[in-house]
Amino acid sequence: MHLMIDLGTSHYRAALDGGKTVIQEPCVIAHPDRGGVVIGSDAQRMIGRSPAHIRIVRPVELGVIVDLDGASLIIRDCVARLSPRRFGLKTKLSIAVPSNLTQIQRRSIEEAGKLAGAQSVQLINASVAAGLGAGLPIQAPRGCLVVHMGAGITEAAVLSMNEVVESNTLPSGGHALDAAIMERVRREYRFMIGQRTAEYVKHQLGGDDGLEMVEIRGRNLQTGLPDVLQVQRQVVDDLLESYCRSVVDLIGRTISACQPELAGDVYESGILLVGGGALMRHMVTRLGGQMAMTTIVAQAPETCVIRGLMRRRVDLDTANKSLQPWHPFTKRARLALRADGKGVES
Ligand SMILES: Nc1ncnc2c1ncn2[C@@H]1O[C@H](COP(=O)(O)OP(=O)(O)OP(=O)(O)O)[C@@H](O)[C@H]1O
Ligand SMILES: [Mg+2]
Repeated sequence: MHLMIDLGTSHYRAALDGGKTVIQEPCVIAHPDRGGVVIGSDAQRMIGRSPAHIRIVRPVELGVIVDLDGASLIIRDCVARLSPRRFGLKTKLSIAVPSNLTQIQRRSIEEAGKLAGAQSVQLINASVAAGLGAGLPIQAPRGCLVVHMGAGITEAAVLSMNEVVESNTLPSGGHALDAAIMERVRREYRFMIGQRTAEYVKHQLGGDDGLEMVEIRGRNLQTGLPDVLQVQRQVVDDLLESYCRSVVDLIGRTISACQPELAGDVYESGILLVGGGALMRHMVTRLGGQMAMTTIVAQAPETCVIRGLMRRRVDLDTANKSLQPWHPFTKRARLALRADGKGVES
């Protein structure tokens, strides 16, 4: 059995090799003092509402596992749901990881998999998986640029021949935007809201619906009492603008570190946006306008990584076969080198 998992800061997504079902749940765990554990949406509903004896944790922060036990609980839970037969000794695990992990962080992810009982743990680059999941021809010797806008991190990666050639990562994404919305509402309206309300504001005012304002509930800091507030779109627009500026800078740094051939490829093929953040309003115009490059949002951008993990094994097999003739030591390559008449094939 082979389990594939995209363990994200806000959501985890998992599937079995050859399976058709994808589990998607918030990456949140609630630990009540008296024992037991709650995982996923039920735990997320408790955020900001739980009594003191229930500890709520997010096992992944900024794309990195910060709670090994929590992460392994999630992995076990995925297997239990996808394959009700027990987690066997032969279970293999593929986990998507960002490009910028340190050796220690990579080891802690492997550790979480082993702790969950996996026989082997393979780490797959999330940008490569996302490119594959979005249908990019990443196996070709040709550069393409994927910008991954997650909840914890934002990564720009130039891919070629199934690998990341150049990448840069920002330790911020959707969650940082939520925190900025909370702070701005507190400062400008003297009104306090929780992270989930801030995310709701972001989705409503930053999404495609084009709402001008949204009504929310929270605590009025002047009276100290519960109250309702109407938040204007400008609040989210300003924050989105500044986030986009940092993404443009990230893309610029990544492209400028590339070989000229790759930079030329990227200029020609454009930018692909993946991750839940790509669903924010006018992302294409905001980024594409500033970069003067074609920019497109992948279909269902938040699930590109898990779809890529699901396709990966099949596609890599095919890709490796199609690449063989170009290898310098294959017979065909030797013959091609001698096609100019110099030397004779022995
Ligand atoms: N329609 C939407 N409008 C605005 N933001 C959205 C929308 N849908 C999702 N998001 C945001 O996208 C983020 C989640 O994206 P995604 O699921 O790709 O992140 P993740 O994989 O959990 O995190 P990471 O990859 O950074 O570890 C959240 O911050 C969420 O608020
Ligand atoms: Mg992600």
